[in-house]
Order: sequence, then C-alpha cells, then structure tokens
Amino acid sequence: MPPISPHEQARDRIAQLRDDINHHNYRYYILDDPEITDSEYDRLLRELQDLEQHYPDLITPDSPTQRVGAAPLESFSEVKHRIPMLSLGNAFNNEEVLDFDRRARERLDVEVIDYAVEPKLDGLAISLRYENGVLVQAGTRGDGTTGEDVTLNVRTIDTIPLRLVGDDYPQVLEVRGEIIMNKAGFEKLNRQRREQGEKEFVNPRNAAAGSLRQLDPRITAARPLSFFSYGVGEVLGGRLEDRHSAIIKQLQGWGLRINPESKVVKGVQGCLDYYQKIQEKRDSLPYEIDGVVFKVDSIAQQERLGFVARAPRWAIARKFPAQEEMTVVEAIDVQVGRTGALTPVARLQPVFVGGVTVSNATLHNQDEIDRLDVRVGDTVIVRRAGDVIPQIVSVVRSRRQGRPRKFKMPTHCPVCGSATERIEGEAKTFCTGGLYCEAQRKEMIKHFASRRALDIEGLGEKLVEQLVDAGLVHDPADLYALNEAQLSGMERMAEKSAQNILAALEKSKQTTLARFIYALGIHNVGETTAQTLAQHFATLEQLMTADEESLQAAPDVGPIVAHSIVTFFAQPHNREVIDKLLAAGLHWPEVEIKSEDALPLKGKTFVLTGTLTQMSRNDAKAALQALGAKVSGSVSKKTDYVVVGENPGSKAVKAEQLGIEILSESELLQRLE
Ligand code: IVH
Repeated sequence: MPPISPHEQARDRIAQLRDDINHHNYRYYILDDPEITDSEYDRLLRELQDLEQHYPDLITPDSPTQRVGAAPLESFSEVKHRIPMLSLGNAFNNEEVLDFDRRARERLDVEVIDYAVEPKLDGLAISLRYENGVLVQAGTRGDGTTGEDVTLNVRTIDTIPLRLVGDDYPQVLEVRGEIIMNKAGFEKLNRQRREQGEKEFVNPRNAAAGSLRQLDPRITAARPLSFFSYGVGEVLGGRLEDRHSAIIKQLQGWGLRINPESKVVKGVQGCLDYYQKIQEKRDSLPYEIDGVVFKVDSIAQQERLGFVARAPRWAIARKFPAQEEMTVVEAIDVQVGRTGALTPVARLQPVFVGGVTVSNATLHNQDEIDRLDVRVGDTVIVRRAGDVIPQIVSVVRSRRQGRPRKFKMPTHCPVCGSATERIEGEAKTFCTGGLYCEAQRKEMIKHFASRRALDIEGLGEKLVEQLVDAGLVHDPADLYALNEAQLSGMERMAEKSAQNILAALEKSKQTTLARFIYALGIHNVGETTAQTLAQHFATLEQLMTADEESLQAAPDVGPIVAHSIVTFFAQPHNREVIDKLLAAGLHWPEVEIKSEDALPLKGKTFVLTGTLTQMSRNDAKAALQALGAKVSGSVSKKTDYVVVGENPGSKAVKAEQLGIEILSESELLQRLE
C-alpha cells in the first residue's frame, strides 16, 4: 500500500475537524449544552482554517469556515417559494380564540383538539433549503411566492447549520422559521451606533431585517442575529412525522434550533392558559415576541382543515396588545423630584398601548429631548413594554406641522423659582433652592437631621414626613420652632419622645462649621468637601461671599463644585433659611486654621479597609483629614499607609504585594493622638 500523501492526510483531518465542529455547534447552539470550552472550540476552528488555507482545493461551501467573507452583491436575486409562505390569522382577544377553536372542531367533528403552542417571534420569516443535508439556499418571505435570495447573509448566522446533523434527513428539506435579534444584541448594536453617530434601529425586528438585507455579507456577519425554526416547506425524498410537535423535534435532531417554550396542550383552554403564562414570562425572555401561535398538532387534521385565502385554518396567532402606538404631544411639563432633579414629562393625547391608557411619558432630560428632537404638537411613537414606564421612541417627522419651537429646560425651578443648574458633562438639571424648594423639602430635612449632618437624634424619616405633611415644617429652620404639643400630636409620638426630640434639637444647635455646611445639602458638596471648605474659609460669612475663583483656591475644589456653591448662596431663599437657622441659635466653635506644622499628616495618603472597632470608618477618615492626610478608596503605589480593621478585603492583600506599610487600628489611634 502506498503511504498516504500529505494532501490525503489533510483531507482526512479536515473531514474529522468539520464533523467535530458541526457536532459542537449543535451542542452549543441547538441543545444549549456545550461539551467543550470556547477556547477549545476556537482551536479546532483555527486548525481547520489553517489546513484549508494550505489546501484551498479542499474547501467546500458547507465547511464551518465558510460562513463569512463572501464578496458583496450588486443586488439580491429572486427565490421562488414552491410552497407559498403564508401568514397567520390574528386573534386579539379570548373570544376570537374560542371562535377559531369552535370552527376547527366543527369542521373536524371532534370534541377536543391537541394544539402545538409556540411563542410568536418578532423577527422576519425565512426559508432554508437543504439538499442532501447541505444548506443551498435561503430566501426571505417577500410576497409569499417570491422572496429575495439572502443565502450569503444567512450563512453568517451561527444558529443556522450549514450542514444537517445525522443521516436520516430528507433529500430536500425546506425549513421555515424566524430570524431574530435578541434584546441584548439589539441594545449593544444600538449603543455602538449611538457612539459612532449612526442612526439607531427602532426595535429588534427592524434591526434584524436591516441586518439581513445587506448586500455585503460581512455587515450581516457582524450583527447578532439568530434563528428559530417553526415548520417546514417543501420536503422530498424522506418522511416526516405526522404531528407538528414531532416534526419540530425531528428538525431539532437534524441540528435546527427550536423554541424551548414550544409544547403541546389539550383543547382551547390549554391555549388560553399558555397565552397567559407566556405573557407573564414575556419580559424575561431574551428575545422579543408579539404573541403566541396555536397550531393544530395533527398533520392529518391540518390537511383536512386546509387554507382560506392566505392563511391556514389550522393555526392562529393570539397577539399581545400592541406595545407601540402613535399619539400627539400636547405639552411638555417639568417635574421636580425629591432630590431637586428636573424631569421633563410629555403630556400625551391619551392612547391605548401595551394594555393600558397612557397619557404621560418621561423624557428624562435635555439630552434625550435633543436626541429625539421632540417638540410640542409633534406626533410621536409611544412604547409601553411590560411594567416599564412609557417611553417616546421617535418623532414622526413627516407629520410635524409648522415650525414648533425646540424645547429648552427652564432656567428657573417651576416649583420654587430658584435658578436651575446643569453641571457640565451631566445629563440632569437641578433646582438650586435646596433649603426652600417645596419639592425637595422632605429629602432636604431628612438630610439636614441625618447623623453626619446635624445629627438630630430621633428625627427619623417618618416623623419628618409627618411634620412636613402637617404643614409644621417648611424648611430646616422651622424644626427649631417646634413645641412639645406639636410633636406629640404626631403619630406614634409619646410625650417622652417629644421631649427627647426637643432635647436633641437643642443639642444639635451646638455643631461645627463643617457639619453645618454639609447639612445645607449643596450639590456636589459632600462631607469631605464640607470639611475642606470649613478649614479653608474658617467662617460661614467668608464662604458665602467667596467667588468661584477664590473657592477654587481651596484644596480639591474644582470649577464644578465652586459653581454649585456660588449658585446655592446666590438664591435669596437659601440665604433667608440660613439667617433663620442662625437666629434660632445654631452656632459652632471658631475654626482654628491649622498652619502647615499643625498638619502632621500632610502629603500622606491613607486607605482604610475592614471593620474598625473603636470608631467608625467615617470618623477615622475625618480625623485623618483633619491632620492633613488624604484618604483614598483604593490601594496604589501612591498609598503611604493601609489601615487594616477586622475582616479586611483584597486591599490588605494588595498593600502587602506593593510593600505598603500596614497599620492596625490601635496603631492608627496612636498616630492620631
Ligand atoms: S407559523 C402557515 N410560527 O408570523 C403558518 N409563524 O403572521 C406560517 N412567526 O410569517 C407561520 N413566530 O414570520 C409561525 N412560531 C411561529 C411564528 C411565526 C413568528 C411569524 C412568521 C410568519 C408570521 C405570520
């Protein structure tokens, strides 16, 4: 026997690799149960690619390497469907389903029908023709008789086998199903398009259709398309099972993906229950569906029922209520949230969408309005999916009448009239009248009383809400005018607790400048910044009169923080509340400006990790900062000390790796002294 040549060796190895890869594709895409890791799979594919590159004469169109890379087409050619691709009748309520079932039972003269039930996928129908197990043609539905030949594009879709599995498939097998883009892939694609300044797709179905109808298959290859089969067309030279559900199983055995939600139910009640169940599951499915399909399971019964016009009498789609409808924007109002954020809301001509009547849709912020370019009077497409708040998807530009004005966020808060501010680089616009604005009252007062602000013990969230609702407290200064009778009038307030709160209020009057500044709730001024400001300006008066430039002279204060501070103190209402607070007796010890020598930890960076037992992490942080240290959240080469409490995390490990000095809690306390 002559020794086998390298060419023959390659041929055998290539055949083996293709079998293996097809098998693993099947395990991965169809059974969702891979046997090997992605990297092992990649190695097999790489080996096959290398061999084929060496021996190009051994490349065949059904090789797993041949999914991508075909040259762009001039135009699509036609595909004739020998068996027409039909559509489905629709049912929009349960009565219509009951009617459908009754008619079918009468025609068949049976008591109960077995139905194969499946989700109705929201993608586009496709016909895949396999001859001797090899994918030879893929066509869109078109008008049902003639579609477009999208074979090259379809070959790029991973979930569509180029070659069928096994050997008992019919000689000619036309598989029908739906090409879809799943929700995650759609979001990702749109994110990319947004970043590249390209137009986004409106929904996954449009994205799938747009991706498939590309003359350049390389574009299709880059799009996250997938496929589910739900039936067959022409079948020659082979036998299929006599039930739809069994045929679908056969398809799965040959390597085609079928929907895991498919099943068989008894009678029309089974159909109605299935609709209910899938509707509840809808949001958690990874792809979009627009209803469910009920199909008479027995093929013999299907044949007896036949067709009317362009739809079978043996199947019907029970559609979900539409999730998108058109309506008109009657006004754009601005709401002020509890944190002072301004949110524009579109007031809509009421429209029934996603199962409810919708008359408002959030517009989020100015960026979103600019992106949509939505104006008062515009006709828009509103979407309400699941329990998500209604959104405006797009403006129907062709319906715009005249030249309505562009919407701009107001310069003054619609609730309290204070100036609004939008921080550069951020989407939200805020009201700056924090101490006074009615919309922010509850949040403001809760913050003011919180532990790290004025620390008014016993003045919890519930009590603040009651006091505001009762009209007793409008701003933080009103707290200091409360009397025992008013407090004990509140729910679940005994005399004793009222007295305790009065005592806590009295105690809180003696505070520090840093706490007071933090309590004001100025945007972008957290605890640390408040401490820095107190240290730098020493008096409230100096802080209140500082301009942006002098504010930026304080350590760690940049233009954004400086701007927020100036705007805050520029609001007359805020100043009034501050005056009232001082008049109520709030006071603090004079701030000692520490000279450089008094800041022994200046220039040192600390990181705290784990639980401290003697003091809270915040107190430790404040104490370190008071001595001039910087406290950072992560360990790097610039870190000087890592303080390790109980149950430290990875920061302790990293510190050791970097050879950074580690301090225990007691060592920290020593240093602080
Ligand atoms: S069966 C003769 N099953 O819905 C019956 N169609 O309105 C042919 N569709 O063009 C269709 N999911 O694009 C069937 N599980 C499913 C389906 C489904 C989605 C689409 C398909 C068809 C359209 C009919």
